[in-house]
Amino acid sequence: MKRDHKESRVGPWAVQKLNALEDYLRYYNTALKNQPFTRIYIDAFAGSPVSKVRGSGVPPEPSPFLDEAEDSEAQEQFIQGSPIRALNIENGFHRHYFFDLDESRAETLRDLCKATENVTVTVGDCNPLIRELAKNLHDRKLRGIAFLDPYGAHLEWDTVESLAVTGTMEVIINFPVAMAINRLITKSGNVPENWSDQLTRCFGTERWRDIAYDIRKDLFGNELVEKKGDVAGRLLDLYLGRLRDIFPYVATPRLIRNTKGAPLYYLIWAGPNRLGLKGADYILKQGEKVAKSR
Ligand SMILES: C[S@@+](CC[C@H](N)C(=O)[O-])C[C@H]1O[C@@H](n2cnc3c(N)ncnc32)[C@H](O)[C@@H]1O
Repeated sequence: MKRDHKESRVGPWAVQKLNALEDYLRYYNTALKNQPFTRIYIDAFAGSPVSKVRGSGVPPEPSPFLDEAEDSEAQEQFIQGSPIRALNIENGFHRHYFFDLDESRAETLRDLCKATENVTVTVGDCNPLIRELAKNLHDRKLRGIAFLDPYGAHLEWDTVESLAVTGTMEVIINFPVAMAINRLITKSGNVPENWSDQLTRCFGTERWRDIAYDIRKDLFGNELVEKKGDVAGRLLDLYLGRLRDIFPYVATPRLIRNTKGAPLYYLIWAGPNRLGLKGADYILKQGEKVAKSR
């Protein structure tokens, strides 16, 4: 495995996310293989073709039979990223659109795919780019999946909505509310303007603010701001409710935790079709589910 200083590293939990994605992509393409649709795959936050799993490659006890470098290399685990998994699906998608803001990641992907005709790699903020692309995805002869896998609150609600209104596209969203999004909601209530703008674009509404904070006045009329309890859980409910307003079906999300058991993000499927829901519910249920009520 060739590596360089730009090597991407992921936590071991990324394996769960990517395996669930791959299972669903396989299910989807099998279900539609005899249908006359052109199948589209969009990877909005495509990332690196291959990543090293953090924590793998820890040198074991010294061995007289292996030199040190060889020894630790043997322990390293590399995993293929989402774009490569989509490309490798047997009888898979007819067209692939990959986006990444990071030029070097996009360049690596482009290099790797240059012999493949049906791949477009674009560098830039995926939000406006996907909204533009989605205008051409209303055609009833198309069907597709958009994998929307940001690190933080970078996926804008308008982007999700532009895919929902096509009536042809499903989405699989990494919704990092338990860590990255919750971190933007400061305890003090002083949320910097660029963070609060980002949260509003992510939820497509300012309602996150009322959900996150209690605002009261003390005896002297001063405002007291307090972050409420279980903000992540209630923001997840807000997001799921809004998804149900724009998609006919939303699967029960799967919670992904880190190795210490702390919640990180939810994998959410939403789409226009009951068969998709059935597959997504089955696949997401293989890991940990959140309460049925969500
Ligand atoms: C979580 S990683 C994606 C991992 C990849 N989907 C996988 O699982 O193999 C997020 C990626 O999104 C990219 N990114 C961040 N903001 C973006 C934006 N606004 N538009 C497109 N890509 C973005 C980052 O450069 C990074 O490569």
